[in-house]
Amino acid sequence: MVDGRHTVAVIGAGKIGELMLSGLLRSGWPVDRLLATARRPGRADELAARYGVRVVDNLTAVDEAEVLAVAVKPQDAAALLDEIGPKVPADKLVISLCAGLPTSFFSRRLPDGTPVVRVMTNTPALVDQAMSAISAGAYATGEHLALAEEMFKPLGATLRVPESQQDAVTALSGSGPAYFYLLVEAMTDAGILLGLPRQVAHDLIVQTAIGSAVMLRDSGEHPVKLREAVTSPAGTTISAIRELENHGVRAALLAALEAARDRARELAAQAE
Ligand SMILES: NC(=O)c1ccc[n+]([C@@H]2O[C@H](COP(=O)([O-])OP(=O)(O)OC[C@H]3O[C@@H](n4cnc5c(N)ncnc54)[C@H](OP(=O)(O)O)[C@@H]3O)[C@@H](O)[C@H]2O)c1
Repeated sequence: MVDGRHTVAVIGAGKIGELMLSGLLRSGWPVDRLLATARRPGRADELAARYGVRVVDNLTAVDEAEVLAVAVKPQDAAALLDEIGPKVPADKLVISLCAGLPTSFFSRRLPDGTPVVRVMTNTPALVDQAMSAISAGAYATGEHLALAEEMFKPLGATLRVPESQQDAVTALSGSGPAYFYLLVEAMTDAGILLGLPRQVAHDLIVQTAIGSAVMLRDSGEHPVKLREAVTSPAGTTISAIRELENHGVRAALLAALEAARDRARELAAQAE
């Protein structure tokens, strides 16, 4: 359980900000050590009703919180920092959850010396199974990284990576849940093609996904070994794999992740 020593403000509590609030609350972070901000009054009311957190304006959050977790869309970050940047005392920790934006984007808009940590998390935070990659930006010390880890560990796994790897992380684990959902959707359709009722196909593939994921995590085996164990000579699986290779699924994944990485770079360029 985290100790909730610091007051954390989630600035721009949309989907990812809400995941962070709910995860911190589940982990025992005291509600009076959490603040949230929102753009629309309706959203503020919703957050206050759902979590009992105090929803304040951005400048009050800057004033009262020791840690500012920025969870706005990358294209909204410059306007937000125009508003709060000059008011942020240089001893506050700024955590950016924004895809694509380098910590230098924040540093240029914050007082000199303000520590910035970049975190790329993902939506399985909702069930405490997030993958959060954490990087130190300018002025962020080991202590700041440890504090960011303390906040994201209750939401799942954490990993420290050099900031230069964050666009690749965004493409792989940030967007990753969407690729798995697409696969499940397509495999459910395939089950229907083979005559299974939709719910049966869905239940079969979801449990298969969970079982395979736990094997990958817990067996210590390489994915190739695990796949070979299902692929008997002249069997059914190899017939399916031949089709996957014929249709370039591996190449499609390489190209898809490259496109996601490039899009992260584009978003950063557009946010300037
Ligand atoms: N979704 C994902 O799976 C995912 C994964 C990893 C990282 N991220 C990153 O997380 C960030 C948030 O993504 P999201 O999907 O959570 O987006 P989102 O649902 O649109 O959340 C952003 C929130 O910020 C609010 N906002 C914008 N400007 C504001 C301001 N000046 N003051 C206060 N609130 C403001 C928005 O208000 P309105 O509702 O009024 O627009 C919205 O509620 C993005 O930078 C994204 O790159 C997302």
